[in-house]
Amino acid sequence: MTVERELKKPSYHLHNGFRMPMGFPPEGFSSGISYQAQSSDIFIATYPKCGTTWTQYLVWLILNNGQPLLASETISEVSPHLEEVGKEAIAKFTSPRIIKTHLPYNLTPYNPEANYIYVARNPFDCAVSFYHHTRGFIKHYDFADGTFDDFFECFITGEVDFGDYFDNLVPWYEHKDDNNVLFLTYEEMKYNPQKAVFKIATFFGSKYVETLKNEQVLNQIMTHSSFENMSKKQERWSSKRPENMPSFIRKGKVGDWKNYFSPEQTKRLMDKFKMRTLGTGLANLWLEV
Ligand code: A3P
Repeated sequence: MTVERELKKPSYHLHNGFRMPMGFPPEGFSSGISYQAQSSDIFIATYPKCGTTWTQYLVWLILNNGQPLLASETISEVSPHLEEVGKEAIAKFTSPRIIKTHLPYNLTPYNPEANYIYVARNPFDCAVSFYHHTRGFIKHYDFADGTFDDFFECFITGEVDFGDYFDNLVPWYEHKDDNNVLFLTYEEMKYNPQKAVFKIATFFGSKYVETLKNEQVLNQIMTHSSFENMSKKQERWSSKRPENMPSFIRKGKVGDWKNYFSPEQTKRLMDKFKMRTLGTGLANLWLEV
């Protein structure tokens, strides 16, 4: 007789019905969602593990003529996470503020003049990346011995931090053609990072596109934001990371999910994808992953 092992689930804190990492203070969430967005703000909105850190750094580099962060600085010190730190902390940053958020569209502070960059990643690679994040971040999730199969069950039912993947993706996608929204995919950034940099600069305005005509600036942006260089930088940042916090720069691949998903899991997530994106146009976004 085989004894079924009980499903292991990560631990979370509920903030307004939202699952959040245990290290996030509840007041950060309620304060963050009441932040009054400024016209100069740049929001980088994503579902977790979809390329947030990479985009934060690209934006930083574009705004700073390709000048990298100082060795002593970390990305979160120049681009804070709204629902972690709350509005008072955000207000202390000088504009233009580069604000990270995993909030769904309807909870993200809105200003018609502010810029919103949304980065989407295919749910399969997202789930794998999220699994490693959740397993590695022991203090936040208590999931060190969780398996991918355990995590998959949570991911597909939306029982993970920041909720269901599709609740985040679909409403943001519906706003992809808004004047103040730039919708990118992780996969297009991987396929042609330079094109993504031009898209971001064009979104910010002609002044930034002009800056990219300086080859040295463009080279600096591309070099500093490469996976290799960000991995090295992340190692230096590690002394400032809380104990046991996994690196946000891990493998950086498209299609790694094939090493984790069983045929049954693939079908279940594909079925959910089809059901949740029916009639949205999202079906054509990832034809080749
Ligand atoms: P993997 O875990 O698949 O490697 P986020 O910043 O939203 O948490 O996303 C993390 C994912 O983005 C990780 O994916 C990480 O490796 C990838 N990533 C971070 N920087 C990157 C870069 N410069 N190029 C490509 N992928 C990058």
